[in-house]
Amino acid sequence: MKKKILNILKKYEGEYISGERLSEELGITRAGIWKHMKSLKEAGYEIESVSNKGYKLIGTPDKIDEEEVSPFLKTKYIGRTFNHHEEIDSTNTEAKRECAKNIIEGMVVTAEAQTKGKGRLGRQWESPKSTGIWMSIVLTPEISPVLAPKTTIIGAAAVYSALRDMGIDVGIKWPNDIVVAGKKVCGILTEMNAEIDRVNYIILGIGINVNMDEFPEELNEKATSLKVQLSEEVSRKELTAKVLNYLEYYYDLFKSTGSIKEVINICRKGSVLLGKEVRVINGGQETICTALDIDEDGELIVKYKDGSLHKVLSGEVSVRGIYGYV
Ligand code: BTN
Repeated sequence: MKKKILNILKKYEGEYISGERLSEELGITRAGIWKHMKSLKEAGYEIESVSNKGYKLIGTPDKIDEEEVSPFLKTKYIGRTFNHHEEIDSTNTEAKRECAKNIIEGMVVTAEAQTKGKGRLGRQWESPKSTGIWMSIVLTPEISPVLAPKTTIIGAAAVYSALRDMGIDVGIKWPNDIVVAGKKVCGILTEMNAEIDRVNYIILGIGINVNMDEFPEELNEKATSLKVQLSEEVSRKELTAKVLNYLEYYYDLFKSTGSIKEVINICRKGSVLLGKEVRVINGGQETICTALDIDEDGELIVKYKDGSLHKVLSGEVSVRGIYGYV
């Protein structure tokens, strides 16, 4: 019912619609309409009610739920099953719980806040309320598990393209991070459920720091938000939809051609590592080398001090710039 009322209010946005008309169209009492209006106001919708005129929608909240994100979606299946929470432990964990019941390709789980947001390598991911985009997307590509890291790169390219579209000067720190001015604004955690030779499902978990004003001291050096960088708020709902639109486009290309060529070109173009000296950390061991290229499979090619070339597989290492975070 909430959705139906919202649809009508949005259709008449800026105009009054009488309680009587709403109650006729929806087949519920005027008292029922009033109750729903009250709960919509509590959810952040600005609704003016004037006796003899009715209700007028004057503002919508910047929530990343289905009602607010779907008007911006251009996808066929990604985000067409939507699962939003005010608070959840982790959207990745929730997506896994959903997949244990029913695996739906393109299902999106979003949350206003996460209490146990997960980062890579067992780290914690700060996910304060209604300031970021905390979302997980379920994908079911018919591929061997060894190819699963490609979906992380597809996710990174989707976030990069969406932010570029919004005129934001971002870079990609291969393979999981998106950075602005040398600090991280987005991280990606890809989890998988697979058999030896086939993927059952992949959970692409994307965290974007959008409208935070500040960070805990220990993160301040390496993390930032779009708001801090741009000195203005960014629409979380529009950005969420843009990421999902790009994600479906790049993911469909991958499924139909088996290649991530276009995505790799984007990653090369946006890379903040290529041509730089980097530190590859693998199992506690550090190697200083030069990041040369990203190959067609999405692997980072590096040159060691002795001139030898090596491939770095995503998920196997973390790459840190020699100077600072990038
Ligand atoms: C990293 O850079 O360490 C990856 C961070 C991934 C965070 C996102 S937020 C949405 C999704 N749910 C989680 O628990 N983690 C990912």
